[in-house]
Amino acid sequence: MNILVTGGAGYIGSHVVKLLGESGEHTITVVDNLSTGKKEALLYGTLVEMDLGDYEKVDHLFQERHFDAVIHFAAFIVVPESVEKPIQYYKNNTINTTHLIDIASRNGVKYFVFSSTAAVYGEPDISVVDESLPLMPINPYGWSKLMSEQVLRDTCSATEMKHIILRYFNVAGADPDGKIGQNFPQATHLIKVACQTALGMRDKVAIFGTDFDTPDGTGVRDYIHVTDLASAHLASLSFLDTGGESQTLNCGYGTGFSVREVLKEIEKVHGEPFTVIETERRAGDPASLIANNSKILKTLIWKPQYDNLHTICKTAYMWEKRKF
Ligand code: UD1
Repeated sequence: MNILVTGGAGYIGSHVVKLLGESGEHTITVVDNLSTGKKEALLYGTLVEMDLGDYEKVDHLFQERHFDAVIHFAAFIVVPESVEKPIQYYKNNTINTTHLIDIASRNGVKYFVFSSTAAVYGEPDISVVDESLPLMPINPYGWSKLMSEQVLRDTCSATEMKHIILRYFNVAGADPDGKIGQNFPQATHLIKVACQTALGMRDKVAIFGTDFDTPDGTGVRDYIHVTDLASAHLASLSFLDTGGESQTLNCGYGTGFSVREVLKEIEKVHGEPFTVIETERRAGDPASLIANNSKILKTLIWKPQYDNLHTICKTAYMWEKRKF
């Protein structure tokens, strides 16, 4: 296939480009404005340095390259920032995505794979969530993604284009070959922050809340290895290309780990303790968020290969360690 990957120089995008490249079956074009992505993360494909808000250039690229498929990652992803700067999030995530969906559907793109998020569920009353749950985001980031989901669903209903919407749970870890990983310097993800603390790049890691209604009082999440998440994108394309219909699918393992369990695992990987403090809850953090993943397992030919916390923490740790 002739594939456009937007945001392909970013964390998840670069892992997808690596798998697409290794398959040897596709022509890959990456559009990235390099605001957070890195050129060196791009192991395959042709980079077109461009902002998706530059509509004329985007239109021109589609007319020139005749893509079969679009995998769309480019977006802002920091939840607290979305609360402070909602317009930036709606412009970049929703308006630019709407344009991209429009131009893709008008230029013969057959398949559109979209990065969505578990943030569309907000703070659900139940901890294991399936795709049919009411959608109630609690921040502009979640809304910006949910609105894009709807634009995509409606556009595909009205045109020939088909889509897969993937709702990511907590993406973590790094390429097991050690070539790429999470590069974003302001990353706030638990596993990255904890690995950096273990390696002396930060003074301490804070546990945000110890009084949740969970077995050990700390937040529980469904951590999915980035390479498994990446392979779900390739499986999505194969599914559509073999006649599958449009779908919205949770991407997680269906298993939850608490903050304490994650920190204990990273301590094991590191071999010695590091400084952990306990603080208040962070605003907007649900107690527990775990994917019901039966739909993706039933729908796609997708076999997670790194479904254990140790591998996730170890690959994340090795990636941070390369800087030494
Ligand atoms: C992440 C994603 C969000 C996505 C959600 C889906 C990021 C920045 N956020 O949010 O887009 O919608 O998964 O599940 O990728 N924690 C600490 N100390 C820290 C950092 C985190 O105790 O220093 C705790 C949090 O309170 C939470 C857990 O660790 O219980 C995971 O937090 P984090 O890695 O920030 O991800 P989410 O907030 O779950």
